[in-house]
Amino acid sequence: MQGDISRKLESKLDEKLFSQTRKKQLKDGFKKGKVINEVLDKRTVMTLYKLITDHIIAYVNGSVSAGKESVVFWAVDENNLDVALKIYLVSTSNFKKREQYIVGDPRFSKLKKGTKNLVYLWAKKEFRNLSQCHNCGIHVPEPIHVTNNVLVMEFVGENGSPAKVLLNSDIDEKDYHQSISIIKKLYQEARLVHADYSEYNIFKTDDGLVLFDLGSAVDLRHPNAQEFLKRDINNITRFFSKRGIAVNDPAKVLKEII
Ligand SMILES: Nc1ncnc2c1ncn2[C@@H]1O[C@H](COP(=O)(O)OP(=O)(O)O)[C@@H](O)[C@H]1O
Ligand SMILES: [Mg+2]
Repeated sequence: MQGDISRKLESKLDEKLFSQTRKKQLKDGFKKGKVINEVLDKRTVMTLYKLITDHIIAYVNGSVSAGKESVVFWAVDENNLDVALKIYLVSTSNFKKREQYIVGDPRFSKLKKGTKNLVYLWAKKEFRNLSQCHNCGIHVPEPIHVTNNVLVMEFVGENGSPAKVLLNSDIDEKDYHQSISIIKKLYQEARLVHADYSEYNIFKTDDGLVLFDLGSAVDLRHPNAQEFLKRDINNITRFFSKRGIAVNDPAKVLKEII
C-alpha cells in the first residue's frame, strides 16, 4: 500500500516537474527536463516537487553547472524571480574528503552516520554559512531555503547565466583589496573561514565581488580554521599576483586579520 502511494506520487511528480519545465523552453530549444532525469535520484526529484508544492519555487528552468558533488539549476519562484538551486548529489563517492570540514565544527557536533545524512548536513551547513555572512552584510547569494540536499538561493546573474567569476573577469587592484577585505570580514564578523576561497568561487558583478560556494566554510573554533585561513589568503594572493597585480605579503595579511 505504502509502496503504491509512493509510486503514484513519484510518477505524478515526474509528470509535474517535466510538464512545468517543458512549458518553459529556452529559445535555443535545449531540453531542460532531460538533465534532471539523468542526474538526480528519485528522492531528490521528490524534494524538488516539495519545493514546488510548498511554493518556494514555481518551476525548474535548466541546469547551470554540473560538478562532481553538486549540480546547480536555474529555477524561478512564483514572483517570476530567478533563483539558484544547489543540489548536493547523494550518489557521490567523493564525500569522505568533506568530513574534515564538518567534524570539528562545534555547530555540527551531533553527526549522524551515513552518506545521505552527511550530504543533507552539508546543504544545511552551506545555508547556515550563507545566512551568517548575509547577516553581517557580506555580499553572498541571499539564502532562501534548504530542504534535504537542495539549497535555494538568490540567482547571481541574468537570464539563467551566472555572473562571471574572478577567473574569467578583467581584474584590478581594487578587486584584490576587496577580496582581502571579504576574508577579513568573514573572519572578524561572521566568525568563519571559507576554506575554499579562490578565483573560482567569487563572482565579479557590477555591484562588486560576491562570494559563494560556502559549503566548506568552518567556524573559527574549528581546530584547522587558522590553517584554512592561511591557505585562503595564499591562494587568492597567488591569483592576483599571477595577473600582475601588486599584492601584500600574505603572511602580513594573515597576521593583520587574526
Ligand atoms: N547563486 C548562484 N547564482 C548563479 N549561479 C550560481 C550560483 N551558485 C552557483 N552558481 C553556478 O554554479 C557553479 C558551481 O557552484 P559552486 O557553489 O561553486 O559549486 P561547486 O561546489 O561545484 O564548486 C558556479 O561556478 C556558478 O557558475
Ligand atoms: Mg565552487
